[in-house]
Amino acid sequence: MAETVVCPTSDVPEGSVKRFEVGNQPVAVFNLGGSFYATDDECTHGSFSLAEGIVDGEIVECTMHFGAFNIKTGAVEAPPCSIPLRTYKVTVRDDQVVVDLDKEAGE
Ligand code: FES
Repeated sequence: MAETVVCPTSDVPEGSVKRFEVGNQPVAVFNLGGSFYATDDECTHGSFSLAEGIVDGEIVECTMHFGAFNIKTGAVEAPPCSIPLRTYKVTVRDDQVVVDLDKEAGE
């Protein structure tokens, strides 16, 4: 899938996360200090939505079993999670958050 316009930047206030369907895929969009990041919305430990999680700096904590991930890299930060989270490239264009499911963050 090519780039997809997901939402206006104003839909995701600073320090928050929201879930969006991109194609058929649930994606979590985070706003960290005005920079936007996207990851799979489902925790890799279970099928819990990370948009229901707690954002603390660059970390999102899953509220189901309190595993945690780095939002920018997808790296596991706390057990019981052991599988990293997929990240996606985000571009902001004309105040719209654009996610590319074919590219990882940083690509
Ligand atoms: Fe997220 Fe278990 S489902 S930590």
